[in-house]
Amino acid sequence: MKALRFVVTAGPTREYLDPVRFLSNPSTGRMGFAVARAARAAGHEVVLIAGPVAQRTPRGVRRVDVESARDMLCAVRQAMSAGKGPVALVMTAAVADWRPAACAARKLKKTQMSGMLRLVRNPDILKSLGRRARGVVRIGFAAETGEPTAEAARKCRAKKLDLVVANDVSQPGSGFGTTTNRVAFVFPDGRVEPLPLMSKDAVARRIVRLARQMAEAAQ
Ligand code: PMT
Repeated sequence: MKALRFVVTAGPTREYLDPVRFLSNPSTGRMGFAVARAARAAGHEVVLIAGPVAQRTPRGVRRVDVESARDMLCAVRQAMSAGKGPVALVMTAAVADWRPAACAARKLKKTQMSGMLRLVRNPDILKSLGRRARGVVRIGFAAETGEPTAEAARKCRAKKLDLVVANDVSQPGSGFGTTTNRVAFVFPDGRVEPLPLMSKDAVARRIVRLARQMAEAAQ
């Protein structure tokens, strides 16, 4: 099979409530940038859609910077429809599920803020892309505490994914901001493949290999 087109998301999203305040999370983009590097090193075309992070763009990768979940959704849709041939979408981004119902045009005064934070749901990017489409491998991540694989299996079914990479963010060396990760691959048929603690680069190489195998199997 020829090279795939990888669309990779990385980092957090920011959901502003006024020009200087936002809701977000501690994702640094390390996991997503590692996937983009690994995919490029394996000879694939890569579009990397990044929330606000301080990572260097890997050589040969097209990067699109976004801030909010809605921006990320637009960028993913555009990247998915921009070319021909099989695509692997790898959503490592920690997308905010909620955003403030309104974003004030001017900085809010302290006195205006009490009780004003009403939230609305953000679109679910993976879900909104629809059911498993031919020629598209869809891989999600799940950052969990407690029962990571059970929750990942639920997300795999709910979002109709080909693979969910579950990381237990309560474990040392795993999850947000670390250079390593302890993950388990959770498949739609219920199979779970736990991996030992390894570098995010090594996890990324495994994901890229699996994505290619899945794309080949679907041909
Ligand atoms: O960036 P790092 O510091 O290296 O940290 C990496 C990480 C911990 C952020 C990453 O490994 C990770 O686990 N990312 C997923 C975070 C998460 O908990 O996602 P979720 O359970 O909210 O969502 C499940 C999946 O749906 C994810 O693939 C997510 O990108 C996607 N999603 C979520 C919400 C939303 N509105 N749309 C989505 O598509």
